[in-house]
Amino acid sequence: MSSPLQTIVDTIRRAPAPIHVDLTGKQAIVTGATSGIGREAAWALARMGAKVTLVGRTRDKAQIALEELVSRGAARERLSTAAADLSRTGAVRGLADELASRYPSIDILLNNAGCYPAQRTITADGFEESWATNTLAYEILTTRLKDAVIAARGRIVYVGSTQAGDLDAGDLDWGKRRWNGVRAYRQTKQANRMLAWVWAKRIAGTGATINVAHPGGVNTNIPGRQGGVYGALARVAFMTQRTPTHGADVLVWLCASPDVAGKSGGFYKDRRELVCPWKSDALANERLWQRAQEQIREPA
Ligand SMILES: NC(=O)c1ccc[n+]([C@@H]2O[C@H](COP(=O)([O-])OP(=O)(O)OC[C@H]3O[C@@H](n4cnc5c(N)ncnc54)[C@H](OP(=O)(O)O)[C@@H]3O)[C@@H](O)[C@H]2O)c1
Repeated sequence: MSSPLQTIVDTIRRAPAPIHVDLTGKQAIVTGATSGIGREAAWALARMGAKVTLVGRTRDKAQIALEELVSRGAARERLSTAAADLSRTGAVRGLADELASRYPSIDILLNNAGCYPAQRTITADGFEESWATNTLAYEILTTRLKDAVIAARGRIVYVGSTQAGDLDAGDLDWGKRRWNGVRAYRQTKQANRMLAWVWAKRIAGTGATINVAHPGGVNTNIPGRQGGVYGALARVAFMTQRTPTHGADVLVWLCASPDVAGKSGGFYKDRRELVCPWKSDALANERLWQRAQEQIREPA
């Protein structure tokens, strides 16, 4: 999340230049489309003419987001909804299979949903909640929808963060280490990048691409589950961050802009590529990818 200085610079800096692309006929899927950055990205893609499927935690939440986009001027007939609790691996597999049967060809898969829990929760599937939501859900959707994305020579975008690190491949669920919300979140965002770099190699040459976006520090609901003084301070601090529209810009640019056509395996903020320290360790990335694939496999 950005420093106050960065926020001032962002505020003074002009709004990102408009992206002039006609996405008519293109199919986009956006997770976490019911608030914050995801909702603004969905709006921007819809405004460019894409057919957008808004994925929410529940159908009702997704429908509310759909109605809001319609009230802002999006074409109702190009919007649709889907729903799943993305912290539940079985539910995400079901969502992916539903989307695969609805859309044999997917031009844009925007894996955006994310959470920042206030305590360590182990889901009924046995995974720490932020790991399941921020990392495994992306892997399930990418694994099960990649053929549809390849069919469209489409783009996969992961929403990562510069808040990344602390990954311990031997303790992904924090059974051995003392759980801490920030560190757990950072682990999920390190994993997003490591896993995306493996996908970039695996889909190379297919015409499909994958990139990771950092939206900057953005004033959204993400600190909303934090309680007490820390929660109150976090919410105040987030108020000084950039707007969701500004935060969504780099996501939308990666999803749609001709500037990045054919480019894959990059980590971007403000439409500029950043260096990623985890790119060089191909073996660690591959091992983590194999581990994630084991975790998301349907139980026998
Ligand atoms: N805000 C920042 O400063 C910042 C910085 C770097 C990266 N990011 C990343 O940006 C992405 C979007 O976050 P945001 O800042 O826009 O936060 P947000 O306003 O809280 O939006 C998060 C979205 O993810 C959904 N979600 C979370 N857990 C879910 C679950 N179990 N099942 C289904 N949907 C779920 C939320 O739905 P509900 O409302 O139903 O929970 C919501 O639609 C996240 O990946 C976050 O890590 C944010």
